Amino acid sequence: MLFSKVIFAALTFFGAILPHTLAVRYDSGVINKIMTHYGDDIIVVNDNFEICDVDIEVDFEGWVATGHLEIDVTFQSAVKNFGARRLANTLCDAVGEAHVVFDDDGSPNPIGCSSNLVNDGSAIQPAETLDFYNGLSSQGNWRLDLKRLFFGTLNQWALILTPCTNSPTASPTDASSDGAGTGDPHFKTWANKWYDFHGECDLVFISNPKFSQGTGLEIHIRTKARFQYSFIESAAVQIGTDILEVGAYGGYMLNGISNAELDKMDKYTVSHEKVSPKQDVFTIELGKGKQIVVQSFKDLVSVKTVGASLEEYGDSMGLLGEFGSGKWLARNGTVISKADAFGMEWQILESEPKLFQTQRSPQWPMQCTMPNNEKVGRRGLGESIAEAAAEKACEHWGDLKDQCVYDVMAAGDLELAEAGAF
Ligand SMILES: *[C@@H]1O[C@H](CO)[C@@H](O)[C@H](O)[C@H]1NC(C)=O
Repeated sequence: MLFSKVIFAALTFFGAILPHTLAVRYDSGVINKIMTHYGDDIIVVNDNFEICDVDIEVDFEGWVATGHLEIDVTFQSAVKNFGARRLANTLCDAVGEAHVVFDDDGSPNPIGCSSNLVNDGSAIQPAETLDFYNGLSSQGNWRLDLKRLFFGTLNQWALILTPCTNSPTASPTDASSDGAGTGDPHFKTWANKWYDFHGECDLVFISNPKFSQGTGLEIHIRTKARFQYSFIESAAVQIGTDILEVGAYGGYMLNGISNAELDKMDKYTVSHEKVSPKQDVFTIELGKGKQIVVQSFKDLVSVKTVGASLEEYGDSMGLLGEFGSGKWLARNGTVISKADAFGMEWQILESEPKLFQTQRSPQWPMQCTMPNNEKVGRRGLGESIAEAAAEKACEHWGDLKDQCVYDVMAAGDLELAEAGAF
């Protein structure tokens, strides 16, 4: 297949109005691909820039039986499938050629049973808007599907992307959700999936030696079992050679010095806010609104990323899984299927750096201490706090309400609900 790329002024392209910026055209070239019922074709984009507009030009010929041709485009980056958009549906009883550009700014509702095929390359609106992809990084596979009762030939097609800036090397934007470790402890992988691991030990939360051109980022957490639940009792973040350790009630050390003045970690600004006597928030600013946030609520500690992107975490390993997919990867890259095995895998090894100032048992090769009979003790939950009270206190937690209720009851502490999206 031929891939050619032409940069041209968008203003000249089918009347689309895209001032001040150059669209980049990725063309399949003439492929004349024969498609029966179903066919697809992929254009690979190697450039990486933030997308501000997407148009798709399609040129095909053939017979379309009553009621059904579906044309979809799907974008899959190296780390994530961003899903399909329907360009056209129900292109009825048509014989002949079609040459159209699907453009959010095109003419409305062009394709239907009563209309003729557009064959002059004019711009029409897709069935689902393409601005869906705006803000993503361009790099990846763009696939065009022609399916259902279509017997014909895809002559050629093109993907027209407008970068948000004229720099084709603009840094990639989000390709993943944020990761977190909170509460009881619940972990949220890069793919926005929650799981629990109740082992008591020191664990690798995030490890990315390639962070910031090799400056390196390591985040370790120390979990502790108490009564019927376990929690993160402290977290240590290392950027370059600077280490911030946060524990109960906002107690912290910077490079081993308690309550040291907080200013920078490596070149990144770090700050501490005492939100209330019970809640402390430490924020490391990574630029462009991206952050690492470590919080304590009484003696429970949480860590989360804000605005995570490939740039900081693309190469990271640890309890949040593979960036983008969230797959539970072992150190050797194999996929682990059980949460307990995955948690155990990320216990800090003897050979790995120790970020915490003090040692606490168990340390490798002694394994994480697991609760005796998993969750059995949890039957006693609710003895101190009624479920109804917990539910009420957790009302404002939205999606995470169940988790909040669970934590409040496990910890026997209604105030935990106050901490917001802790
Ligand atoms: C990879 O790591 C997993 C989990 O630690 C282990 O079970 C597996 O045997 C390892 N595979 C290889 C090929 O080393």
